[in-house]
Amino acid sequence: MEQAWKEDALVLGIESSCDETAASVVRGGREVLSNVIYSQIDLHTLYGGVVPEIASRKHIEKINQVIRKALDEAGISLRELDGIAVTYGPGLVGALLVGVAEAKSIAFATGIPLVGVHHIEGHISANYIEHPDLEPPFMCLVASGGHSHLVMVRDYGEYEIIARTRDDAAGEAFDKVARAIGLGYPGGPKIDKAAREGDPNAIDFPRGKVEGSPYDFSFSGLKSAVLNYLNGCRMKGEDFSRPDVAASFQRAVVDVLTEHSLSAAKDLGVKTLAIAGGVASNSALRASMQTACEEAGIRFVYPSPVYCTDNGAMIGVAGYYDFRNGYRAGYDLNAVPGLRIGEKQGVSR
Ligand code: KG4
Ligand code: ZN
Repeated sequence: MEQAWKEDALVLGIESSCDETAASVVRGGREVLSNVIYSQIDLHTLYGGVVPEIASRKHIEKINQVIRKALDEAGISLRELDGIAVTYGPGLVGALLVGVAEAKSIAFATGIPLVGVHHIEGHISANYIEHPDLEPPFMCLVASGGHSHLVMVRDYGEYEIIARTRDDAAGEAFDKVARAIGLGYPGGPKIDKAAREGDPNAIDFPRGKVEGSPYDFSFSGLKSAVLNYLNGCRMKGEDFSRPDVAASFQRAVVDVLTEHSLSAAKDLGVKTLAIAGGVASNSALRASMQTACEEAGIRFVYPSPVYCTDNGAMIGVAGYYDFRNGYRAGYDLNAVPGLRIGEKQGVSR
C-alpha cells in the first residue's frame, strides 16, 4: 500500500554486495549526512581478488559498527529514519544476505519502512548527490567490476538498457590486466596511476567491436591482446614497460567507452551524459568524456571518486526515489544475486 512520503525524508542506505561494508544517511534523496565505508580490499589483496566467503564473514563482523557510525556522524537516531534501503542484488549472494538480513531486522524491530535497491541503480543515482539540478531524462555509462552498461534513465526508477558488455566488464579487464603486469588487486586504481608515467600510444591494442550492435562493449579481445603481448615479450626475452602497457591498455578501454557512449548519446538526442561505477573514477575516462561531451555540446556529469566505488549513500539516494515512487519491501525480502536493471523481486507498490 502506498504511504505518504516526505520530501525531506531521512533514508539509511546499506550496501554489502561485494567487498565494501557501507552505510549512509541521506536527507531528501540528495543530501548526504554521513557516508561510512569499511573497505575489505586489504584482506582480499592477499588472494588477488575478492574471496566470497571472507567477504561475507567480514560484513557480519563490521555491519553493526558501520551503521552505528553512519547514524552517529549524521546525528540521527534510528527512530528518526523514514526509510531503510538495502542493496539486494546483483552481487555475491552471501555478501548481499548480510545487508538484507540486517536491514530487515532493523525494519522489523522499529517498524520503519524497508525497500530493496538494485546495486547498479544505486551507482547511477550517485550522480544526484553532487548535481542538485540533475533530473531524468539522461543517459549513464555504468562501468564497474561486474557491469558495463549504457543505461537511459527515462525517469526516477525507470531505466532502459541501451548497450551492455558481451563478455568482461570494464573493471574486470582492468583487474585482470593489472594482475598480468604484476600490479595486484584492485587493478583499476593501480593502472590509473601507472598509466600516468606511460605512453598511451606505445602499443596499438585493439578496440573491441560487436557486429550488428554498435553500442555494445567487448573487452575480452583486448585482455587477450595484452596477455599475448606480454607472452611475446617473454618469449623474446625482452622486458616490457609496465607504464606503457598500462597506459596503452587504459587508452583502448577509455576510447571504446567514450566512443560508444557519445555515438549512442548523439543518435538518441541525449542532452546529459553521466558516468557511474568504480571505473568512473578513472582519471583518463573522466578527461576523455569531458572533452568529447564539450565537443558534442552535451552536458557531462560525474560523481566524486568516493561516490563512484561502492558506498551506502548511492543506495540511500536510489532508495529515496523508490520509496517516493511507492515501493516497499516485506520482511520476506531476499538477496537476488542475478537481479536485472529495472527488475523488482519482493519489492512492490
Ligand atoms: O563499482 P565498484 O566499486 O564495484 C562493483 O560494483 O563492481 O567497482 C570496482 C571496479 C574494480 O574493477 C576496480 O578495479 C575498478 O572499479 N576501478 C577502477 C578505478 N577505481 C576502481 N578502474 C579504473 N580506474 C580507476 N581509477
Ligand atoms: Zn558497485
